[in-house]
Amino acid sequence: MERFSWRDITPEEVYLSRRRVLGGLGLAASGALVAGCGPRSRPSSGAADGAPGPTAIAGPPPVRTLAGPLSPAVEATPEPDPNRPTSDERGDGVTSYDAITHYNNFYEFTTQKEAVARLAAGFTTSPWEVQVGGLVHKPMTFDVDGLHRFGLEERIYRLRCVEGWSIVVPWDGFPLRKLLSAVEPKSDAKFVRFESVLRPAEMQGQGGVGFTWPYTEGLRLDEAMNDLALLVTGVYGRTLPPQNGAPVRLVVPWKYGFKSIKSIVRIDLVAEKPTTLWNTAAPDEYGFFANVNPAVDHPRWSQQTERRIEGGLARRRTLAFNGYDGQVASMYAEMDLKVYY
Ligand code: MTE
Repeated sequence: MERFSWRDITPEEVYLSRRRVLGGLGLAASGALVAGCGPRSRPSSGAADGAPGPTAIAGPPPVRTLAGPLSPAVEATPEPDPNRPTSDERGDGVTSYDAITHYNNFYEFTTQKEAVARLAAGFTTSPWEVQVGGLVHKPMTFDVDGLHRFGLEERIYRLRCVEGWSIVVPWDGFPLRKLLSAVEPKSDAKFVRFESVLRPAEMQGQGGVGFTWPYTEGLRLDEAMNDLALLVTGVYGRTLPPQNGAPVRLVVPWKYGFKSIKSIVRIDLVAEKPTTLWNTAAPDEYGFFANVNPAVDHPRWSQQTERRIEGGLARRRTLAFNGYDGQVASMYAEMDLKVYY
């Protein structure tokens, strides 16, 4: 049984060098060495030398309505689709399907990013129900296929992990606000709480100590109603594979990736700020808001730069709100984001 804690979360530079060392020792697959390996000293920032600077937001991300149901997940890399844009609205190239689906954070399975796809391969994603309730007038339970009544769009979003790596992903999904509007939030609903599946028999990481399972996350209601917040059921026009959070996950592109909770089974409208897995495990390291903010370092590493996982070791400057400031900054106008991180 793999055992680990929040201290195992490392800046990506350290993760990569650790993998190289373990690989050299022939120990890369050994989970036993992972626990307690988190860095105790602060790594160098790897700051912005030669990294591209921010440019103005060109407008909302490209949206493409999908004609029909998504095709089943398959392992092979999809054939290039001439109709799919190859970059986002900033001109950042889309990460390959192979990379998006084989470098994952999904602690319910393992902390080893390259091993998640293999360990999640047999995960049961059907049947699957999502209960939506709490402070709403019309609580509903959706079968995942029932979620498709909200329509599906392809949106290309940047995802910036708190550890310092990033990807650009063509997700298939629909705005969370459509589902929230359908259940009609009551006036005292102020936050939304999300809960991932609890299934230790299939998710070996849930047997370990260090975290309070199931994985939970939360948003303020206005954040959840922002058009960028997406419930996702597919990637690259295909059904979402287990390692990326099948059958349905959240994607909140202006926040660090840990807010984008996977394999959701419950969504509740609540009056108080909900507790979340990461904020509970290490409140000084993972705030509730967790907006991407290069001006606020993680206590153990800099957040000024990031590495696109297919771009070699080159680092680029991290953008405030991950470059989505034009669409989200107004929600935080009254907040000191150095305090409420
Ligand atoms: N959701 C659950 N249930 N469990 C997790 O471990 N990891 C988070 C987030 N959602 C996580 C999760 C983190 S830290 C990141 S960076 C993203 O998922 C990674 O998503 P990806 O593997 O699809 O790139």
